Amino acid sequence: MKLELAWLPALLLSIPSTCVARARDYDAHDYYAVHLSPSIQPQDVSEHLGLDYEGPLGQLEDHYIFRASDRQQGYDHIRTSQEDLRRRRRKREAGWEEPHILDSVLLAQKQELEKRFPLVKRGILPARQDPPVDSAVQKGIDIAKTLGIADPIFQEQWHLYNHVQVGHDINVTGVWEQGITGKNSTVCIVDDGLDMDSDDLRANYFAAGSYDFNDQVEDPRPRLSDDKHGTRCAGEIAAVRNDVCGVGIAYDGKVSGARILSKLISDADEAVAMNYAFQENQIYSCSWGPPDDGQAMEAPGILIKRAMVNGIQKGRAGLGSIYVFAIGNGAANDDNCNFDGYTNSIYSVSVGAIDRKGLHPYYSEKCSAQLVVTYSSGSGDAIHTTDVGANKCYNNHGGTSAAGPIVAGIYALMLEANPALTWRDIQWLTVLTAVKVDQPSDWTMNEGVGKEFSHQFGYGKADAWALVEMAKNWTNVKPQAWFYSPWMHVKHEIPQGDKGLTSSFDVTAEMLTKANVERLEHVTVTMNVEHTRRGDLSVELRSPTGMVSHLATNRRNDAANSGYVDWTFMSVAHWAESGIGTWTVILKDTNVNEHSGTFTDWRLKLWGESIDADSQSLLPMPTEHDDDDHDEVHVPAVGTTSVAVPTETGAPAGNPNDHPHRPVNSKVSATATTSATQSTSTAEPPPTDDDKVPDPDTTATPTPSPTDAGNFLPRPFPTFGVTKSTQAWIYGSSALILIFLVALGTWYIRMRRKRRWMNRDDYSFEMVNPDGHDDDGDQAPALNGHANGQANGGRANGGKPKQRAGQLYDAFAPDSDEDEPFHVGSDPEDDDDHEHGHGRQAGADQRYRDDEPLREGKDVS
Ligand SMILES: *[C@@H]1O[C@H](CO)[C@@H](O)[C@H](O)[C@H]1NC(C)=O
Ligand SMILES: *[C@@H]1O[C@H](CO)[C@@H](O)[C@H](O)[C@H]1NC(C)=O
Ligand SMILES: *[C@@H]1O[C@H](CO)[C@@H](O)[C@H](O)[C@H]1NC(C)=O
Repeated sequence: MKLELAWLPALLLSIPSTCVARARDYDAHDYYAVHLSPSIQPQDVSEHLGLDYEGPLGQLEDHYIFRASDRQQGYDHIRTSQEDLRRRRRKREAGWEEPHILDSVLLAQKQELEKRFPLVKRGILPARQDPPVDSAVQKGIDIAKTLGIADPIFQEQWHLYNHVQVGHDINVTGVWEQGITGKNSTVCIVDDGLDMDSDDLRANYFAAGSYDFNDQVEDPRPRLSDDKHGTRCAGEIAAVRNDVCGVGIAYDGKVSGARILSKLISDADEAVAMNYAFQENQIYSCSWGPPDDGQAMEAPGILIKRAMVNGIQKGRAGLGSIYVFAIGNGAANDDNCNFDGYTNSIYSVSVGAIDRKGLHPYYSEKCSAQLVVTYSSGSGDAIHTTDVGANKCYNNHGGTSAAGPIVAGIYALMLEANPALTWRDIQWLTVLTAVKVDQPSDWTMNEGVGKEFSHQFGYGKADAWALVEMAKNWTNVKPQAWFYSPWMHVKHEIPQGDKGLTSSFDVTAEMLTKANVERLEHVTVTMNVEHTRRGDLSVELRSPTGMVSHLATNRRNDAANSGYVDWTFMSVAHWAESGIGTWTVILKDTNVNEHSGTFTDWRLKLWGESIDADSQSLLPMPTEHDDDDHDEVHVPAVGTTSVAVPTETGAPAGNPNDHPHRPVNSKVSATATTSATQSTSTAEPPPTDDDKVPDPDTTATPTPSPTDAGNFLPRPFPTFGVTKSTQAWIYGSSALILIFLVALGTWYIRMRRKRRWMNRDDYSFEMVNPDGHDDDGDQAPALNGHANGQANGGRANGGKPKQRAGQLYDAFAPDSDEDEPFHVGSDPEDDDDHEHGHGRQAGADQRYRDDEPLREGKDVS
C-alpha cells in the first residue's frame, strides 16, 4: 500500500541503527541530546563544543547524543557556548555575526536524571481472594480441550474465560477457535524487565526487539528483587500454551522487553526505548506513568513526545506504533488521567479497569482521555499470570497495570487478523466495538459515533471477539488532519463557587474544510491558568452538540500554586462529531477560599480524519515552542471569545451524576451560590469572523477589571454583544494598544535615525537559520517573520523578516541578558519550565506561530 512504500527507505535504514551505540555512564559523564540542522555533521558540532560524539538518538532523525568527559553538576556546555555566542553578537564582536556552527543546534538538552519525575508502576494488590465457585466450569474444561490448552492455571484465568461471573471476561476463546492466536504479532513490554528464561515465555521471546535501558545490556532480564511487574504483564500477553502456568491472550505471539523502570532514566534513553525496533515491535505496552498521588501534573519531555510522533508516523512501516497506557491508580487520591501527559496523549490508547464482577475498582481513574476499560483486580480477585522464575505463576496481578496489557494482547490478535491497521484504525475499532459497562456512571450518548461515553469507563469494555471481527474487514481511515484555533485570551478572574467562567470559540465549516478535517477523533485544549491552589480548579469542554468533556476535575491533594502552564488536556468524548459550531470552555474554582486565580488563555485543537487523503501531510515534529505563540493572536478575537458568568441554567448539561463519589471539599458552602458575580451574557450570537481586531502586541494588554465595568462605553462603540467587563477589556486593550503602537512608531523612527547614523542598516539575524531550511520550529522563533501570521509562510525567511529581525534585536538587545530577544536553537530551560510547571517566561523570544503546521511539501503517497 501507499504508506508502506513511502516508508520503505526508513524501514531499511532503521535496521542497523536500532542498537544503542554504547553504554552510557551517567555517574561518570554528562550527556546531551541535540537536534541539529540536517546539513551539518554531528561530529563537527561535538568537536567544536569539546564533547564526544556518542551516536544517533534512537530513531529520531537528526538527533544525536554528545558526551562530556566528566560530570559537572549545574554546568551546561552547550548552553554556555550558546550564551557566549549571543553575548559576542550583542557586543558585535568581530567575526561573531557570521553564521556560526552553533546555529545548527536546533535543540540541546542536558540529560539530568535528578530532574526527572519518577515513573511508577501501576500495580495494586487486591485485598483478598474469594474462594472459587463452580458453575460453568465444564464449559471451561471443554474450551481448553478444544484449543489444546493444558496450562495448569488456565481455569483460574477468569479474564479469559469466567466460569463464575459468566460473561465477565474479554470474550477471546471464540477468536482462538478461529486460529487467531497472535501469530506474527509482537508486543514490547516497556517496564522493569522480562524474564525471558521463564518456561512460560521463552518460546515467544523476541530478543531482537528487546533491550535493557537501565543496565544497558541486550537482555532486559529482571535484576532487582522487585523487577517482576514486566514479566507479569508479558505473561498476560504472550504466555506460551504449554504445561506452565496459564496462557497469554496472544499465546502464539511474540513479546519483547524494554527495561526502563528499574532506575531513573534520561529523556533521551526513554525516547530511544519508545521507538526501539519499531518496525518489528508493533505494540508498546506501558503500565506506568507519573505518580498517581493526585498532585503530579507531568508530561513527557520534548524528546519523548517526538519519539511518540516518530513512532506513529514511521513505526510499522508507516502504519504507526501502537502505544497502550494504563490509565493510573490514583482515583482514591482524586487523581485524573488528564493530568498525566502519557495517558492523555492522542498517540496512546488509555486503558482503565473494571473488576471480575464488572464493577469499578476504587483505584481506576476517570478522565475524558480514557478510551476503554478491561478486567483487573477487585472484588477479591486479580489477574492470574506468569511470574519471574522458571515455572512460577502469580495470582495477584492488579491495578490498571494489569488492564493495559490485556488490551495490548487483544490488539496483537487484531493485527494478526488484519496487519494493515493503522494506529488510528485501532482507536476507531476500540471505540466502535466497546461494550457499555452495566454500571451507573455519567454515560452520555455521543451521537457522532452512536456510542455512549463515560469518564469512568470510556466507551466501555474491550471485547476481543468484536474487535477482531470488525478488524478483519475494516477499511483504513484516511490520514490524520487537524485544526488549531487561535489563542483565546480570556485574562479574567475566575469567580469562586459553582459558577464558572466561560469562553467560546466558533468553528465554521469553512475552517474545517480549509484544514481538511472531515470528522473528529481527538480534541485537545491547551490552557494557561494562574491559580494559587491548582486542585481547586475544574474545566469542562462543551462541544457544539452539547457533549461535555470534564477535562479537569478537582484534586484535593493538589496544592500547587503554579496553575496550568501550557498544559494540554485531551478528550475522546467527541469522537466522530463534526466539530462545527461553538466550543465552550467552562473554568470553575469551586472552593470558596482564599485561593483564587485568573484564566489567561486557551486554544482548541481538533484532530480527526482528513477530507482529502492525498493532500494531507504528516504533522511536523513537535517543538518546545508549539504553544509559544500566545501573543500572535492579539486581543480575544472579537466574537470568538465571550467572557461571561453563566446563569444556573447554563450549568453543564448532560452529566448530573458525573462525580458522585468525589469527596466534597467542606469549603464549598452555601455562600458559593450567592457569591457569584456580575452580569450574565445575554449576547446575541457573536460574529464569527475571528480577525476583526488589528494585530497589536498583547504583551501590552492589561488584565480586565471586571468590577468597574459600569456604563463606561459611550453609544457609538459597538458592544459586540459581550459582557461589560469584556467590553472594558476589549476597549481598554485597544486604547493601550493604540498607545503602544504610537510608542512603537516613535521608537521606530528614533531607531531608524540612530541606525542610519550608526550605518548598520543591513544588520540581520538570518544566520540563525543558515541554510534556509525551516520546517522545524526550534529555530529562532522570534525572528522568522512570526508577524506574518500565515499558516506556514509565517516561518519563511524573507527579506522583510530579516529587516524586522534586526530591529527587534536592537529593540531589546541593549540591556540585560534576561530579555533575550532570540533563540539560538532552543533553550534547555524552556523545557524545565514545561515540565515543572513554573511560570512561562515573558519576552520577545516566545513568539512562534504554529496555528496550522506545514501542509505543503510532504505527500503521503
Ligand atoms: C462473544 O463471542 C461470541 C463468539 O464467540 C459472540 O457470539 C458473543 O456475542 C460474544 N459474547 C458476548 C457476551 O458479547
Ligand atoms: C507472517 O508474516 C509473514 C511475512 O510477513 C507471512 O509470510 C506469513 O504468512 C505471516 N503468517 C501469518 C500466520 O500471518
Ligand atoms: C468480510 O471479509 C470476508 C472475507 O475476508 C468476507 O467473506 C465477508 O463477506 C466480509 N464481510 C463484510 C461484511 O464485508
